[in-house]
Amino acid sequence: MKEEQQHLHHHHHQQRKIITAKKLTRPTAYVLLLLLSYVLGYLSAPSSSSVHSPTAGTASIPTTAGAAVAESDLGHFSVTRRCGDPVPSKLVRQTILDRVFNGTSPFDSFPPQHVSHLLRPKRIKGWGSNGAVFENLIRRVKPRTIIEVGTFLGASAIHMAEVASQLGLKTQIICLDDFRGWPGFRDRFKDIAMINGDVMLLYQFMQNVIHVNATESVLPVPFSTASTLDKLCELGVLGDLIEVDAGHDFNSAWSDINRAYRILRPGGVIFGHDYFTSADNKGVRRAVNLFARLNKLRVQLDGQHWVIDSA
Ligand SMILES: C[S@@+](CC[C@H](N)C(=O)[O-])C[C@H]1O[C@@H](n2cnc3c(N)ncnc32)[C@H](O)[C@@H]1O
Repeated sequence: MKEEQQHLHHHHHQQRKIITAKKLTRPTAYVLLLLLSYVLGYLSAPSSSSVHSPTAGTASIPTTAGAAVAESDLGHFSVTRRCGDPVPSKLVRQTILDRVFNGTSPFDSFPPQHVSHLLRPKRIKGWGSNGAVFENLIRRVKPRTIIEVGTFLGASAIHMAEVASQLGLKTQIICLDDFRGWPGFRDRFKDIAMINGDVMLLYQFMQNVIHVNATESVLPVPFSTASTLDKLCELGVLGDLIEVDAGHDFNSAWSDINRAYRILRPGGVIFGHDYFTSADNKGVRRAVNLFARLNKLRVQLDGQHWVIDSA
């Protein structure tokens, strides 16, 4: 009997211990779990020296080509550690012809027979493409090389070529565009022909350039802006003046501005459209302001354009 009582007592004691343990276990487990996740999070976080921050590249970005690009920038843009040694301005065109067009000019034997009947002698349309900002900056910078990021039918490129020529400058204008426009752009440009889904933007742009007799000063590079800007960095092709007017969403503008600034010649100017227009809601102004703030640069305004002088 006594044994039975002892057993019962022992059993109750055990049960109390289990209940107490259970009571303690839940909140304790929560606290432990919380602590554990903090510790794991802390351990798995990159060290402050490897966190990407555009500011981390501040010192190196303005030095552009030939200078070391901050380690922290590499993951973000996946470009070469260094831009190539700067190509002299007078060799910029030939470098691109050699490295992008197998040494031939895309204007040779233009237009190809199968599209000639689809082109209009001249079809130029842009947005704010003749704004005062172009002449203001060309007068001030006297650029030998202009890089245009986003060209469409060439309205702004042709305007810049005309302004430069009127000012007696020998300026080469490199036009980066995939010449695809954007999905549905033909709703407003039905006259730009399409063959099997291939829109004739590149050819109509080239036809426009031929029409104004600017084939020696304007050269298209018909690929994505990101890959072309990286290629120009690799080749050491720098711009004295760079216009950014391609994708207007935040990510596109952010990528283009950062990549373009990398190949801006020290002392050069980078600028772009749609700081104030409705398109700025898509992200241009946000990207410009963030870029300027992180790199301690000043945004100036000229009409609907933003302008940033290199540091
Ligand atoms: C607003 S238009 C350029 C207008 C031109 N600057 C003007 O004022 O006449 C934008 C151009 O950027 C090009 N574009 C947009 N995103 C691009 C990308 N990721 N790569 C290459 N071109 C792109 C489009 O094909 C389009 O022709």
